[in-house]
Amino acid sequence: SKKDVAVLVGSLRQASINLKLARAMQRVAPDNLNLEIVPIGDLPLYNQDLDAETSPVAWTSFRERIKSCDGVIFVTPEYNRSVPAVLKNAIEVGSRPYGKSVWDHKPGAITSASPGLIGGAVAALQLRVILTNINVPTLPQPEVYLSGADKLVGDNGEILNEGTQKFIETFLAAFEVWLARFK
Ligand code: FNR
Repeated sequence: SKKDVAVLVGSLRQASINLKLARAMQRVAPDNLNLEIVPIGDLPLYNQDLDAETSPVAWTSFRERIKSCDGVIFVTPEYNRSVPAVLKNAIEVGSRPYGKSVWDHKPGAITSASPGLIGGAVAALQLRVILTNINVPTLPQPEVYLSGADKLVGDNGEILNEGTQKFIETFLAAFEVWLARFK
């Protein structure tokens, strides 16, 4: 049966390279994976006070969406050598209230993309540490750090370079195998 994969994109800008990469992954994903981009830009900033009260509706529906999925792909830019706040905020929201984290045992994978030379690898590695903390078993290999990525993904979710396309397909195939180990 098809696996339901939530894709979280750590950039809110319309022309985002990472959003284009997410769209490209939707197109080339194996038949058994259904990738859905789950929006995170409207989640109110995490505030621990609200754990004791009624959570904002956006938080609740995000938590339910993650709880019901089979796995998560984090598609992240690098901001100031780390994970953009919008993505970190979504992680915080999903991790609380204490003891009710929706991330626990949810298999994950990371891609990063940057126009720069190291492809957002520093952010991706920082994210990997965070995912360890919230108990997301994260696909080890292949590590996808797309450098010069503005030249690699087109506006309509096409990958502009055959080698890169093959690499992304290999990554998604590995993630499919990874998911099967956790259900
Ligand atoms: C950046 N950028 C960036 N790039 C990088 O490789 N390492 C970095 O540390 C940073 N830092 C950074 C901070 C902030 C606040 C911005 C806005 C940008 C450049 C970044 O990679 C570039 O803008 C990408 O295009 C962002 O990803 P999206 O929005 O295209 O997906």
